Amino acid sequence: MNKFSLKNAYDHNSQAFSADITVAERIDFYSKWCQSGEYEKDLSKGGTYNGPIIAGEAISRLYPDDKNIRILDIAAGTGYVGEELRNKGYFNLDALEPSKVMLQQAKDKKIYKNHICDILGGTAVHINDDEYDCTVVCGAMGEGHIPCSGLNEMIRVVKPGGVVCIVMREEYLFTVSEYKDRLEPLMKQLEDEGKWESKDRINFPNHFAGKSGVLFVFRVKCDGV
Ligand SMILES: C[S@@+](CC[C@H](N)C(=O)[O-])C[C@H]1O[C@@H](n2cnc3c(N)ncnc32)[C@H](O)[C@@H]1O
Repeated sequence: MNKFSLKNAYDHNSQAFSADITVAERIDFYSKWCQSGEYEKDLSKGGTYNGPIIAGEAISRLYPDDKNIRILDIAAGTGYVGEELRNKGYFNLDALEPSKVMLQQAKDKKIYKNHICDILGGTAVHINDDEYDCTVVCGAMGEGHIPCSGLNEMIRVVKPGGVVCIVMREEYLFTVSEYKDRLEPLMKQLEDEGKWESKDRINFPNHFAGKSGVLFVFRVKCDGV
């Protein structure tokens, strides 16, 4: 990747994660970025953007033989995580994504069974409790993206014994006001309340454009709560 395209990727990504736009403007920005054909060039999987590969590998380590598990890809975007999972043999995949345009691009790839246009925010998404074996979130924790309250939804839709897997840029834990001194303490609080158990917290290099990432894996309702 040359300097110009890396700058382009960085600039577009910074706009998507800007603190100065509303939720509606952010979704609209993603839709337009995607429509322009630049999104997948900017976030080239295995190039500038490696989070989806880390997410796919994490899930295949957790479920090496059970390819039939139901997985919800939250904030699926154009389906990068789904592509990784499908390449590893998982086929029971659903996508949740607020941008209709991105969801349509994911749909065109014929990876997911169900395509849910919804957003993780203050209210419950239109999914029953305990529907999935696993939820995965990649690249959607950040400024103005999924709020801390989204953790409750990730847990609610997963069956007891299932898994929540979160891949995010590491520095956002400290630079995003919604998460600073809140996100990891909330993760710990949910563990203390018996809602889930932390199984992994792994730092990795080059999540996006040379920026480090962190992978969180939690086992849901492990204490029978
Ligand atoms: C950087 S993209 C990552 C897409 C995909 N997960 C990937 O790794 O390729 C971030 C995605 O998060 C979605 N998003 C932003 N805020 C969200 C929210 N509150 N709930 C669900 N999705 C959200 C955006 O529409 C966008 O598709």
